[in-house]
Amino acid sequence: MKLKITETSLRDGHQSLIATRLKTEEILPIIEKMDKAGFHSMEVWGGATFDSCIRFLNEDPWERLRLIREKVKNTKLQMLVRGQNLLGYKHYADDVVEEFIKKSIENGIDIVRTFDALNDFRNIETTVKSIKKYNGHCQGCIAYTTSDVHTVKYYVEKVKELEKMGVDSICIKDMAGILLPETGYELITEMKKVTELPIELHTHCTSGIAQMLYLRAIDAGVDIIDTSISPFSGGTGQPATEVYAQILQGTERDPELLSEIADYFKPIKEKYRKEGILNPKVMDTEPKTLVYQVPGGMLSNLMSQLEQQKALDKYEQVLKEIPRVRKDLGYPPLVTPLSQMVGTQSVFNVLLGERYKVVPKEIRDYVKGLYGKSPAPIDLEIQKKIIGDAEAFTGRPADMIEPEMEKFKAEIGELAKSTEDVLMYALFPENARKFLENRNKPQVEEIEINLFV
Ligand code: CO
Repeated sequence: MKLKITETSLRDGHQSLIATRLKTEEILPIIEKMDKAGFHSMEVWGGATFDSCIRFLNEDPWERLRLIREKVKNTKLQMLVRGQNLLGYKHYADDVVEEFIKKSIENGIDIVRTFDALNDFRNIETTVKSIKKYNGHCQGCIAYTTSDVHTVKYYVEKVKELEKMGVDSICIKDMAGILLPETGYELITEMKKVTELPIELHTHCTSGIAQMLYLRAIDAGVDIIDTSISPFSGGTGQPATEVYAQILQGTERDPELLSEIADYFKPIKEKYRKEGILNPKVMDTEPKTLVYQVPGGMLSNLMSQLEQQKALDKYEQVLKEIPRVRKDLGYPPLVTPLSQMVGTQSVFNVLLGERYKVVPKEIRDYVKGLYGKSPAPIDLEIQKKIIGDAEAFTGRPADMIEPEMEKFKAEIGELAKSTEDVLMYALFPENARKFLENRNKPQVEEIEINLFV
């Protein structure tokens, strides 16, 4: 079996370690070499890359994708979307989702990985249909977490569901880095019994077990693993690509090219370290993640929330409250946005001395069913306390949203020169408007030249 590699440095790698600050001009000089390195695919788009381009870098994310595509001839280009949320934090109407997927593929994406935080696949339905419609490779994703209901059997059933939906491959997304090596082995072995689809594994080094997990996953016959070229590996990111190219025999990767790529990125990483964009904290190993089953990022968020309230002494109490809140709410996986929601509720419960005395709007919406179906039923008493006798919505959340494309088009008006611009505005209204306004202004240099004439 030939193990394939998805190189993640240009998306998750720099998102995890340097706050998604890589510029297109830092990517392009090396991209042809990366194209020749023998990767199955390169993850280059989605996640925070789009937002970061317009918010911090004054770059058109669509243009970045097109420029990369122009130079990448052999390797598949991959992106990540949060199902019906696309790259944002709320559900979009089906017409926006379809248009966004269509344009992503048109501009150069081959593989779209789509997931839902709750593993409620009604929330990825429209992305799956659209990816297939526009001839992309659709990778259906299960978000990995642990709880009484999140057993190997549960995930095997989820794989069957994904296969029925028509996906082309499966991804196990261990966003918190808490999948234990032996569980990973069992999970992949059992999945392989029910599907012939390629299985890809995604993890993070946060807790310190990622490399061991990959070895056991390889034993179980995983088809693809996600790794990142060494300067953007480790810490809260993925394991280093070169290591796997070295230890695995009979693969197509070219170790020499890989070290040239690493040498290219090293000084770039050093620059971001000096500028303080690489926060040394992200390189820490946090095995407590495994003990509390809470993602590393959530632990540090809790610390600072409690610090602000001068209640750091309540830290252990809050940590114990988190699993209880999760149980009350039907075991939502702790991934954005649910990790923040569950964390905040736990802090409220402990600091106010009464559970669910104060409930954030997002938790209320979740209990109302607006995020989709919880993995296990929500505790009835808690539900009553939060939304009273109101009946929870049980349908597909996006069914409640009227088509939105025309509305967004009208709102952004002349500033948008293309459907891509309209989609940029749909996803990140404020920053896209600023970006598009800026783009239309004459550049300072031009004005100076004109004055001179
Ligand atoms: Co990730």
